[in-house]
Amino acid sequence: MTRAIIPLLLSLMIVACGSETVAEPGSEAAAAEAETPEWRIVIHGGAGVILRENLSDEQEADYRAALEVALDAGAEVLKEGGTSVDAVQAAVLTMEDNTLFNAGKGAVLTAAREHELDASIMDGRDRNAGSVAGVKHVKNPILAARAVMDHSEHVMFAAQGADDFAESVGLETVENSYFTTERRVKALDRVLETRSRTDADRHGTVGAVAIDKDGNLAAATTTGGMTAKAPGRVGDSPLIGAATYAQNGVCAVSATGHGEYFIRVGVAKTICTRVELAGDSIGAAAENALDQVADLGGDGGVIVMGGEGQYDYVFNSKGMYRGMMDSTGAVETAIFEKKD
Ligand code: GLY
Repeated sequence: MTRAIIPLLLSLMIVACGSETVAEPGSEAAAAEAETPEWRIVIHGGAGVILRENLSDEQEADYRAALEVALDAGAEVLKEGGTSVDAVQAAVLTMEDNTLFNAGKGAVLTAAREHELDASIMDGRDRNAGSVAGVKHVKNPILAARAVMDHSEHVMFAAQGADDFAESVGLETVENSYFTTERRVKALDRVLETRSRTDADRHGTVGAVAIDKDGNLAAATTTGGMTAKAPGRVGDSPLIGAATYAQNGVCAVSATGHGEYFIRVGVAKTICTRVELAGDSIGAAAENALDQVADLGGDGGVIVMGGEGQYDYVFNSKGMYRGMMDSTGAVETAIFEKKD
């Protein structure tokens, strides 16, 4: 059944930029201005201190192009009538294969100079979910998470058992060094030498949320975690309810940020519970959860989609790689704090 997305009140989420007042891309107000789409996908490529002055024009163009590749991959599924769970998987798969992002190839290294990757996926139709934590060999952790959901009676596998499971269902495996890039080796060496992490060392997780033509929500999140993390450390990305959640008619969330704080707040489930039980708008619910993260000392952001496909980007960091594409032909990418 083709589903219509209900227009929202324009009075919400109007962001003042100096003397100019604009609807923030992704705000409910911006969504309300758009033509009603049949399907929509929203992605993030990590939050953090991302300042215009620190990004060359070429780097900015590269990130925007990579975001569009991910959006296109998800949109391709949705426009053919595919499911939102296939769409979020397709979108984040491209980011796992792109070394710009901290997921799959190009992921950060642990203090033991290895990659331990985390991923999760959730289907809003029945709240089925799958995740893997600390995998070292499956080439695309999001496919392993999906396989756990589709081909096991469990929700989560960790470490060697997760890699073994991925191999047993026929997923491609690689040497751990496949994921390594010079940029991440330099970052690891710096963190080990200085014994401190910059903001960028703690960020870069990617994710997607989507709604399909039948109104089904889905969410996916995948990451290399934190530079120089202790071997065995697991962040929020593979934890259903912390970084990832999807429930039809309520909301879908994918989070990026300092994982320990997102786990402690249970960010993704908190947002969906506030929408469902407190009647919050998706933006208000996300702000509430991120305020709790900030109160504990953490930072990061979320992409959130409501039961009718309305969406928002909410972050308390200085930027977040993000974008949206839908059936009306609307495409947006953004990186910095304000409308850009
Ligand atoms: N948010 C990713 C991590 O903390 O591992």
